[in-house]
Amino acid sequence: MEIIHNPKELQQRALELRAEGKTIGLVPTMGYFHRGHLSLMDEARKRADVLITSLFVNPTQFGPSEDLENYPYDLDRDAALASEHGVDILFAPKKDDMYHGNHCTWVTVPDLTEILCGKSRPVHFRGVATIVTKLFMLAQPNVAVFGQKDWQQLAVIKRMVRDLDIPVEVVGHPVVREESGLAMSSRNVYLKDEERQQAPMIRKGLLKLRQEVENNISDCDTLKENLRNFYRTEIPLGTIDYIEIVHPDDITPLVKIEGPALCAVAVQIGSARLIDNILV
Ligand code: PAF
Repeated sequence: MEIIHNPKELQQRALELRAEGKTIGLVPTMGYFHRGHLSLMDEARKRADVLITSLFVNPTQFGPSEDLENYPYDLDRDAALASEHGVDILFAPKKDDMYHGNHCTWVTVPDLTEILCGKSRPVHFRGVATIVTKLFMLAQPNVAVFGQKDWQQLAVIKRMVRDLDIPVEVVGHPVVREESGLAMSSRNVYLKDEERQQAPMIRKGLLKLRQEVENNISDCDTLKENLRNFYRTEIPLGTIDYIEIVHPDDITPLVKIEGPALCAVAVQIGSARLIDNILV
């Protein structure tokens, strides 16, 4: 496995590979790999000749009071794991090489980013859409794989690719969970013992909500209120950021469940802001 730090060097390599007729798969990440990331790499590996994984803790998607400074990072550990999962090129740029001092060009997808995580993290999706566009320009992928845990992120990237005619197939990959049901996240390392015991209730609550829908409760306010009460009882150490039921493609809030719907939640437990979702 090759490790490339320089963005222009990656772009040159990618253009050469494409000129040779090779297909490229990209898995963009912020590192500190867990089984979720590794499953994205396994999926992308099956879909392209050359697999590139990027590892970049993107500062522009963090707000001023968020965890940028503490975000876990271990290049050697991640490089070993990436290599075991068939990555050909690990792209690990430095912040100053990705953003010029006077960077001022942004990609925004406003219609999909005013609720859920976009509401409590106002600059987040602008940073995500911009860095993903840059990674697409640098790595020249035919296909890029993203986790469905960040469902809103996936919807934003799909919309951006469609609106800007970016020639990349965007693939969503199912959430990978710990045995307890807790969705894998690099931020799970922040959880203290007692918090870790309560965190799996996020998933339990979502499963309960799906059961209620199957039992013909379709009013979204009722479903959300029931889930809110469940979380208040079962996750006393948590603070609910949001519980929303939206259309899975355009992320618009639903009043009644009559077709495809996604329940998405964010709960702050200690210093970990945890998100999860379920299709109902
Ligand atoms: O999902 C993530 O880890 C990040 O938001 C991404 C897509 C790598 C952009 O920095």
